[in-house]
Amino acid sequence: MLNIRIEKTKDPKVLPGKDNPLKFGTIFTDHMFIMNYETGKGWYDPRVIPYQPLNLEPSAMVFHYGQEMFEGLKAYKTDDGRTLLFRPDKNIERANRTNRRICIPEIPEEDFLQAIKTVVKVDEAWIPTKEGTSLYIRPFIIATDPYLGVRPSDRYLFIIILSPVGAYYPEGLNPVKIWIEDEYVRAVKGGIGEAKTGANYVASMKSQVKAHDEGYSQVLWLDGVHRKYIEEVGAMNIFFKINGTVLTPELNGSILPGVTRDSVLALCREWGLPTEERKISIDEIKAAHENGTLEEVWGTGTAAVISPVGQLRWENHIMQVQDGGIGPISQKLYDTITGIQLGRLEDIHNW
Ligand code: COI
Repeated sequence: MLNIRIEKTKDPKVLPGKDNPLKFGTIFTDHMFIMNYETGKGWYDPRVIPYQPLNLEPSAMVFHYGQEMFEGLKAYKTDDGRTLLFRPDKNIERANRTNRRICIPEIPEEDFLQAIKTVVKVDEAWIPTKEGTSLYIRPFIIATDPYLGVRPSDRYLFIIILSPVGAYYPEGLNPVKIWIEDEYVRAVKGGIGEAKTGANYVASMKSQVKAHDEGYSQVLWLDGVHRKYIEEVGAMNIFFKINGTVLTPELNGSILPGVTRDSVLALCREWGLPTEERKISIDEIKAAHENGTLEEVWGTGTAAVISPVGQLRWENHIMQVQDGGIGPISQKLYDTITGIQLGRLEDIHNW
């Protein structure tokens, strides 16, 4: 158990008003959690302090070789005033998987959870309550050794910042348009595609800019070897409903194992929908669109929740889904997941 020191701000910010149409990730709360690491000493000095800039050497390893990890989860206020976290154990487990992959020292799971709970409690008043909003929790670790050689750092900072957020996409629950990338790739098996590290996101930016310029919200990645199999969208996993079956790419080593992805699979199975986690080729999606069996497409993510896809573009093929509207399974998943997150539906899974 951590002995967390708490230093409250003397200069609290003005809370966003109840009707503030919150965007994603632009406002930060009054406090942050921070803890240091040094080889031989372990993790030490856990504290909640006022949100503030970091003081780092320009030679800090994170700036040069990108040794950093992050997570994303959310806190919600229930109608009767309780604060709920959604499946934090899954994020913490994944955080340590990322840490192992990129040689960052692990954080004991109970300490990680205690750190999240402590800082969320301090800034509880920042949890927004308007429909479609929540408090986004962003834990991350950066390598801080002042050193230019390539090796794992001996010093790190573990930080948790908090941001009251609305929908990730400006479209809200309205369907997004997705560009299927045929030039660049995001990750390959054996690489770091399944780790939640910044490098995977910077790899996606050039295509994202291209997609935006063409009027698309996000990029859908194909596998890096055959350029044929569906992988994931930059900020979410992807699902297809074809002829009654719910399909999503299997976790093959280059796809992020999403917490919402896992929750959606569990719910679909409980609802009696046939589900398959397997290789899905772009040709299969195109054929399903052509023969009228591509019933629904949606993305899943902590930030994106359930995000219906209204159009996919691959090369010169434009595939319209659900006439560009929201499909019934996407809507039911959104309602169920947000209902559980807000404590309005029975939580039989203890999520
Ligand atoms: C999340 O969904 O929490 C993520 O980390 C995706 C991020 C790109 C916003």
